[in-house]
Amino acid sequence: MVINVTRSSLPDFAEYIDEIKDLWDTHWLTNMGSKHKALQQALVDYLKVKDITLFTNGHLALEAAIEALDRKGEIITTPFTFASTTHAIIRKGSIPIFCDIEPNHFTIDPDKIESLITDKTIAILPVHVYGNVCDVDKIAKIAAKYQLKVIYDAAHAFKVEYLDQGIGTYGDASMFSFHATKVFHTIEGGAITYNDKDLSFKLDNIKNHGINGPETVIYEGGNAKMNEFQAAMGLCNLRHIDDEIARRKVV
Ligand SMILES: Cc1ncc(COP(=O)(O)O)c(C=O)c1O
Repeated sequence: MVINVTRSSLPDFAEYIDEIKDLWDTHWLTNMGSKHKALQQALVDYLKVKDITLFTNGHLALEAAIEALDRKGEIITTPFTFASTTHAIIRKGSIPIFCDIEPNHFTIDPDKIESLITDKTIAILPVHVYGNVCDVDKIAKIAAKYQLKVIYDAAHAFKVEYLDQGIGTYGDASMFSFHATKVFHTIEGGAITYNDKDLSFKLDNIKNHGINGPETVIYEGGNAKMNEFQAAMGLCNLRHIDDEIARRKVV
């Protein structure tokens, strides 16, 4: 017998049907339609972040954030994570350099980062594993000292806050996964949160073929857009998220 630790949440069938009904009027099924826009705004508010770009899944969101660095080299990260973190670094042409974790929260040990920095290091990619917050202050100091970018894998850290700020405001970018197993999901889905408006432009090009106008293609982008049915699921699930978080806290 399989005993699941948890199972994917679902809104009431009628609620989801009601949410997607107008897609049969508009026939606007993907490409940043009204559901996508509404979810984007709702998540900016809920996650207390400055800006967000939605993706079809968390892994491609992470790849996009790495691609947006516009550089390849060594990226210091943790092996204590899901395979996606390391794979994203390699698939985007950089080399993962593993740093040990600290024993209490299983997040990257900031005191061990500096000894791994070389002239090839371009970024640090820590993971808020199990929603445990990395030592964002120490990591920010190291990044500033060596002029490195910081991308957080916040796949497990939905709604986590530190010093009353959304966890997605720390570092240069943070990736959230909205996979069906996560406390908040869009079936498949993900997002990058960030403070620098310029990143929005880059991420939009990466996730939508570099299309920048009806007849303008400015970048060799891929396709990693969140569709309207995913976004609609997100809008429904966000209405019940506080209950879902409370349910998962019950032991
Ligand atoms: C730590 C971590 N990083 C990245 C991912 C990839 O996210 P996704 O499954 O949405 O592609 C996951 C997914 O569970 C994860 O746990």
